[in-house]
Amino acid sequence: MSHDLTIVELDVDDPAAVDAAYLIGNEAIAADLPDLPPVCRYEHDVRVRVPMPGADRHTFLAYRGAEPVGMVHVDLPVYDNLTKAILDVLVLKRHRRQGVGRALYRHAVDFGLARGRTSAMGFSVFTDRDGAPIGSSAPFAAAVGQENKLVDVRRRLDLSTADDAELDRLLAGSWPKAAGYSVVQWGNLPPEELIEDLAELDSSFLDETPNGDLDYEAEKVDADRLRRASQVRAQYGARRYETGIVHDATGRLVAWTAIRVAKTIDWHAWQLITLVHPGHRGHRLGMIAKVVNLRTLRAQEPAVRMIDTFNAEVNTHMIAINEAMGFRAVDRWANWQASVA
Ligand SMILES: CC(C)(COP(=O)(O)OP(=O)(O)OC[C@H]1O[C@@H](n2cnc3c(N)ncnc32)[C@H](O)[C@@H]1OP(=O)(O)O)[C@@H](O)C(=O)NCCC(=O)NCCS
Repeated sequence: MSHDLTIVELDVDDPAAVDAAYLIGNEAIAADLPDLPPVCRYEHDVRVRVPMPGADRHTFLAYRGAEPVGMVHVDLPVYDNLTKAILDVLVLKRHRRQGVGRALYRHAVDFGLARGRTSAMGFSVFTDRDGAPIGSSAPFAAAVGQENKLVDVRRRLDLSTADDAELDRLLAGSWPKAAGYSVVQWGNLPPEELIEDLAELDSSFLDETPNGDLDYEAEKVDADRLRRASQVRAQYGARRYETGIVHDATGRLVAWTAIRVAKTIDWHAWQLITLVHPGHRGHRLGMIAKVVNLRTLRAQEPAVRMIDTFNAEVNTHMIAINEAMGFRAVDRWANWQASVA
């Protein structure tokens, strides 16, 4: 057991502690996910001081003597999901299997419980695309009583082998089904005239995507919340490429997709949310938004070689679009959850 372990909240004014949090986070990525880039250092340094407004974030470091050996982020959603705590436990490789992970988990659960958080959640890679185990999150989760409630699959588009002619064909084949719709694009800050519609689409995200057995409410996003989130995100230095589709007859925004590139990592991008309003499905708006957005990204970010995205394993419609665009499965991620009351 780790009787000499101390767990303290990250002091953002202590450069050694901010460094340690950066290094511990990256070691876990390098060990289990060597094809992913490290965390952007610029973003890390801003984020420890300016967290996203939707969650109250607390980071705790575990020290053995003076040496930092592990870390847990605890996110407490503040607008909705008020009984949830979202945890990310990370332990340096050479200090694993010595009880550090368990101690950090317990600390985070107790911290959440003291704030009314009776459900603890997490998200981590657990197998490759064929089901062979990756990392130690599955046995660790089992040891602390967490259950896998929903499987997400990470898919990757390798732009060095992307089939541009096929993307052209997909777009040409889609537009005839989308008469009466127009494309609109923006970057880090959404246009004011679309923000109400965007908030409405964003709020519907969790109701409209498969949630498996995960107990998590749809987030209540309003224009103000979206504005604040965009402003904070912009401070992280990442560049966002967003494409929306407007229904010409009503002027309403009915589809939306987003890609982000971190400030200091030029070769990698994340394909984020894609949503089509339920009343406007069947017009290939998801495909059009994604292909058009990808084109913009490629024009603006010629160094990007790899794009990763997550979908619930059962989200057949979105997966069909991604596969048609050339995204291929890489690994499987678990959405862990346990009642800790
Ligand atoms: C998962 C992780 C946090 C575990 O940290 P740790 O300090 O090694 O965990 P502990 O020593 O407290 O292990 C607690 C129990 O989990 C189980 N466990 C942890 N790692 C295991 C492994 N590689 N194989 C089998 N069981 C394992 C064991 O039951 C262990 O108890 P035991 O050692 O008495 O048998 C660490 O491996 C890590 O940082 N992984 C990368 C990030 C990650 O996956 N985080 C979890 C998702 S939120």
